Amino acid sequence: MNILLLGSGGREHALAWKLAQSRLLGNSGDKLFASPGNPGIADHAELVTLDLTDHAAVVGFCEAQRIGLVIVGPEAPLVDGLADSLRGAGVATFGPSKTAAQLEGSKAFTKELCVRHNIPTAGFKRVASAHEGLTALDDFSIPVVVKADGLAAGKGVTVALTRAEAEAAIAEIFDGRFGAAGAEAVIEEFMQGEEASFFALTDGHTVVPFGSAQDHKRVGDGDVGPNTGGMGAYSPAPVLTPLLEGEALERIVVPTVRGMAAEGMPYSGVLYAGLMLTPDGVKLIEYNCRFGDPECQVLMMRLEGDLGELLLATAEGRLGTLQPPRFSAESALTVVMAAQGYPGTPRSGGAIKAIAEAEANGTKVFHAGTALKDGQLVASGGRVLNVTALSPSVSEAQAAAYAAVDALDFADGFCRRDIGWQEIAREKSAVGRP
Ligand code: AMP
Ligand code: GLY
Repeated sequence: MNILLLGSGGREHALAWKLAQSRLLGNSGDKLFASPGNPGIADHAELVTLDLTDHAAVVGFCEAQRIGLVIVGPEAPLVDGLADSLRGAGVATFGPSKTAAQLEGSKAFTKELCVRHNIPTAGFKRVASAHEGLTALDDFSIPVVVKADGLAAGKGVTVALTRAEAEAAIAEIFDGRFGAAGAEAVIEEFMQGEEASFFALTDGHTVVPFGSAQDHKRVGDGDVGPNTGGMGAYSPAPVLTPLLEGEALERIVVPTVRGMAAEGMPYSGVLYAGLMLTPDGVKLIEYNCRFGDPECQVLMMRLEGDLGELLLATAEGRLGTLQPPRFSAESALTVVMAAQGYPGTPRSGGAIKAIAEAEANGTKVFHAGTALKDGQLVASGGRVLNVTALSPSVSEAQAAAYAAVDALDFADGFCRRDIGWQEIAREKSAVGRP
């Protein structure tokens, strides 16, 4: 069949690479399209230009090209209801409806769903003005977390270590820094613990675990400096033990899927749960309604089954008829190469060379923000490349990924040098243990 993949980052390159191996594209004539895609995705797909905010145009393309499955990579088109428009036109679509995508699109929506279904999460208060926010602060101890309600490109959350910082964060939200995303805010109790990401595929009824990961949000080594979209990740996250994963599934993910269905908002797609492993058990930090970036890259490295069949079965509501997803027991680790200046204003246009040399040791270099300029591959975004390795341990995957980073020729790029540090420290301290 023909498939259309929407998005342009490293997440979508990893999805395209894996989809290209799917039986769904096994007949001669079957085509993978991507929009807008990037030069890495172009190795696996035909790139097309579509305005994702013009739903009629996307539906028209799908009808003209007889698209059998659309996969929506990023959150914005989902929150904007693109999956509804496609499904309304009879096009099988991987990704939740506009209503269900509120799990990512509105922090207050998710917190209230958690209350209704007894899902463990931080205590919170929803506020609609700076005045309400400042008053609500009195009910929380410090540190406290302040969040803009809507999508704010990962920048709407402040973990405030002082009351003054919390007040400033509230003022910023209601001063309009985040536009409509800041029409409301959520003040949250600070949770202590280690974070892990847990993924599940669901068609609204069946829920299947789809792996775990840990990422590195700060720009600098040792987790310092400003927040980013993610500077690296590894999978699995052994800190999410089978016991804790079972707890996350039973107490958080399954009640969410059941609750959404019972309330007439069935959720279909991938549910990405950001979890805090607290001394009182696993708690939900937040949901995303799509794969993580760069978490998807490490999941795809480990996935052994047919991604296309899994995503199509999810879209068609028959996930229960498939064998559960299978992943390699090995560890995947990805290092994000970013352009100098990221997460501020990244320097674009820097030349990128020697990808083949970097990949010579079996590593995959996914394109995140690249473009072709006069036949030369150049940087065109903040996060530029995702250098991804699969090895028996996180330590070995890290060594392989950095060997590939060192083989690359990208003078304008930088990366963290300590991706995977938490797990590597645990691996080292486990050496010699019985
Ligand atoms: P979010 O965008 O909701 O994932 O928040 C971004 C980051 O803020 C998370 O990855 C956590 O590191 C931190 N965070 C969010 N909520 C809390 C909380 N209630 N307690 C502690 N840290 C939090
Ligand atoms: N890496 C975090 C995210 O995709 O939201």
